Amino acid sequence: MSRDDILPLIAAWDGEGVVVRYDKPTDTWIFIAFHSSRLGRPTGGTRLRVYPDLRAALRDAMRLAEGMTSKWAGLGVRYGGGKAVLAIRRPLDAADRRGLMLRYGELLETLGAFYTGADLGTGPDDMVHMARRTRCILGVDSAGHATDPGPYTARGVAAGLRSALRHRFGDASPAGRRILIQGLGGVGAPLARRLAAEGAELLLCDLESAKAEALAVETDGRIVPVDRVYTEPCDVFAPCAIGGILDRRTIAMLACQIVVGSANNQLDGEDDADRLRKWGILYVPDYIVNAGGALTFSLMADGVRDEDELAGRVDAIGSAVADILAEADVAGTTPLVAARRRVDRLLARSADED
Ligand code: PHE
Repeated sequence: MSRDDILPLIAAWDGEGVVVRYDKPTDTWIFIAFHSSRLGRPTGGTRLRVYPDLRAALRDAMRLAEGMTSKWAGLGVRYGGGKAVLAIRRPLDAADRRGLMLRYGELLETLGAFYTGADLGTGPDDMVHMARRTRCILGVDSAGHATDPGPYTARGVAAGLRSALRHRFGDASPAGRRILIQGLGGVGAPLARRLAAEGAELLLCDLESAKAEALAVETDGRIVPVDRVYTEPCDVFAPCAIGGILDRRTIAMLACQIVVGSANNQLDGEDDADRLRKWGILYVPDYIVNAGGALTFSLMADGVRDEDELAGRVDAIGSAVADILAEADVAGTTPLVAARRRVDRLLARSADED
């Protein structure tokens, strides 16, 4: 992959810019995508993974940054959209990873323009390392203790899921509903535990089968093999791993009533929302329902520490989802369009306040 292949992608993007840094000791490419600072300082998670190529890594950073702009606007939080990707070549051992995090932290401190926290592939430990080099971290307090956004995100997804169940079946309870969770990581695992406690019948799938097995024992769930994740009949399909998984091919395979999960950018393209609607599947827009972690970080940055208050604010994601689903029905559009309109209204309103 030559450099020349990725530069035009950056030039063609409608975001504000991309910072590219190569970390020689670990052979890692770092992309920090700044999408919009219209509402405030670009803020979003840092993702770490092996990508098929650099284009895929850069595209992911740019698309995720766009999603953050919508996420903050949808929450009414005055932060901007940004996201970082650490495109590692192969899994790193603990010492290499720590070194990468320290150097990446130094870069963020030099820039002083992007605030970040955990995302897919990174966790509270990484943030603690970075926080030794930079103030540009959300969710690490002055004592160096890191908050994991995952359980808060899971709480918001569960609230949105209840609204979607009520919308579709007239009953919000997950009890007895078959819920298939794809990806049992930072959000998928706490979501599974929460739904199991509410009596859901869990179907669990993860690329790491040991993860699925352990959680299946714990939650009395059933394991779904990776090659059946899109075809397995269920009431709710909850994507909680990577994005871009819902496309023409997979949507035609789905045997569910509702799609609601935490993964960012679940749709391959915008027309996939129409496709889901045509197949009679209720799709809850990801950036609305997965905003619990981001919301919690923004509240904590404002000094809110009370767990009941945080929980109450995250649960309100359920009402936002209910409003969007109702608005989509009234307008005869997809929930994605209804969510977009809501975000545009909020963006216009905050622009008026400026
Ligand atoms: N990565 C999570 C998200 O996309 C949580 C997070 C939000 C982390 C904002 C940092 C900043 O919502």
